[in-house]
Amino acid sequence: MSKYLNLKNMDSVPTTEPDRQLYIIKQLREAMDKYKQETGSSPCYKVVTFGCQMNARDSEKLSGILEAIGYEATESEDADFVIYNTCTVRENANLKVYGRLGTLKKIKENRPGMLIALCGCMMQEPHVVEKLRTSYKHVDIIFGTHNIYKLAELIWDRLDSGSMIIDIWKDTDKIVEELPEHRKYSFKSGINIMFGCNNFCSYCIVPYVRGRERSRRPEDILAEIRRDVSHGVVEVMLLGQNVNSYGKTLETPVTFAQLLTQVEKIDGLERIRFMTSHPKDLSDELIQVMAGSKKICPHLHLPLQSGSTRILKKMNRKYTKEDYLNLVEKLRNACPDISLTTDIIVGFPGETEEDFQETLDVVEKVRYDSAYTFIYSKRNGTPAASMEDQVPEDVIKDRFDRLLEKVQTIASQVCARHEGQVMDVLVEQINHQDKHLVTGRLSNNTVVHFPGDASMIGKLVPVLLKECKGFYYIGELYEKR
Ligand code: SAH
Ligand code: SF4
Ligand code: F3S
Repeated sequence: MSKYLNLKNMDSVPTTEPDRQLYIIKQLREAMDKYKQETGSSPCYKVVTFGCQMNARDSEKLSGILEAIGYEATESEDADFVIYNTCTVRENANLKVYGRLGTLKKIKENRPGMLIALCGCMMQEPHVVEKLRTSYKHVDIIFGTHNIYKLAELIWDRLDSGSMIIDIWKDTDKIVEELPEHRKYSFKSGINIMFGCNNFCSYCIVPYVRGRERSRRPEDILAEIRRDVSHGVVEVMLLGQNVNSYGKTLETPVTFAQLLTQVEKIDGLERIRFMTSHPKDLSDELIQVMAGSKKICPHLHLPLQSGSTRILKKMNRKYTKEDYLNLVEKLRNACPDISLTTDIIVGFPGETEEDFQETLDVVEKVRYDSAYTFIYSKRNGTPAASMEDQVPEDVIKDRFDRLLEKVQTIASQVCARHEGQVMDVLVEQINHQDKHLVTGRLSNNTVVHFPGDASMIGKLVPVLLKECKGFYYIGELYEKR
């Protein structure tokens, strides 16, 4: 496409954002239109997302920019533009990317002009970029978590220079908004309320790759939600690594609970979710707002990580086992029907059988609706990586299996508590296995399958929960007689 670019136009490119990117997108679009006209082909793109909801949201922004340039979405990685938006929270996420890059190389050999871009958390690690630069020369563009808004400019630079572009920022205080985006669902959306993390849990790489905590201004968040709602969105998920500390660094500080109160007032919005909550910052004010709200879903993801106070201290989590259990009790007193989910790490350095028993104890006491269980993964550069007493693999595996079994047994009992009731389901899609069924979620996030059709997608409908199958329900549309 480069021969269609009018490079002279770069002389008048604006220097402020987002105008600069919008200008470049327009230039690329014109080149793309000419290319399409002359060749009769229509270049396609694929964004592959690894990792968490933050990455999923970033991918919507990347897709939006590519579509504005004129690329069309495709499901396959045999495409003209492929981006991997990477995660590095655990090592296996990392290894997957290298494996898949090998496959992309073969695709690129048969597809002249194909561009491959890598971005996301993994790219914030200098040793990764070095390895890619020297051994993965078929990669065209490498950028990080702080400058995804610059994708158009990076494509321009790549086409202009003809060589690999690497643009990684260590950190940023910039939040660039108002660029095109492609929302995955029309009826629910993820909304960034803050970026980065200041907690430095000793096992975790996120603060190093996502930078310092920055909150968006409440008026910008509210405007985005209002705009989404006017386009048919009924459910929002407010996103941040630690939403409970939202707003502390703003010029005019605002609490997360105050933000929620404002979001609640938006007409047409039916459901409000948020993640992730750090137990240390979960305030009584927030519990009260949740208890009094009609829209905030009765579900809280409250990562435990470990039930042992000794390990929690080494993890730098800043709460004890008792603090956590007290918090759960307060939540259950205020919102009796609340569903709790969690993250647990098994095999943190120095974890003994007694420590592990403390974790099992919390799982038994809290009775989670579900729990994500992770084997501790050593991340270079984090304090835990250089701690002594790394736990042997076979011991970890044995604990992991025992934990999983306990979590699953409890989850299937807890999940079944609404059997026989009628509850609202937000229908999300046609069921993948049986096209006569639709799939949706209860306000507490449990999945429900029931007979229905595409006309229900995006709607809240009453469903009789006939049978719980472990962690999901089979239901039927409830029609009042
Ligand atoms: N900000 C969120 C979590 C983000 S990472 C929070 O504080 O809860 C998602 C989950 O990955 C974490 O909750 C943790 O359980 C897990 N995780 C993070 N680093 C890990 C590591 N080094 N090894 C194993 N699991 C890890
Ligand atoms: Fe990682 Fe802890 Fe920050 Fe969560 S709060 S992202 S676990 S450092
Ligand atoms: Fe992974 Fe980055 Fe999220 S490391 S979990 S994608 S913040």
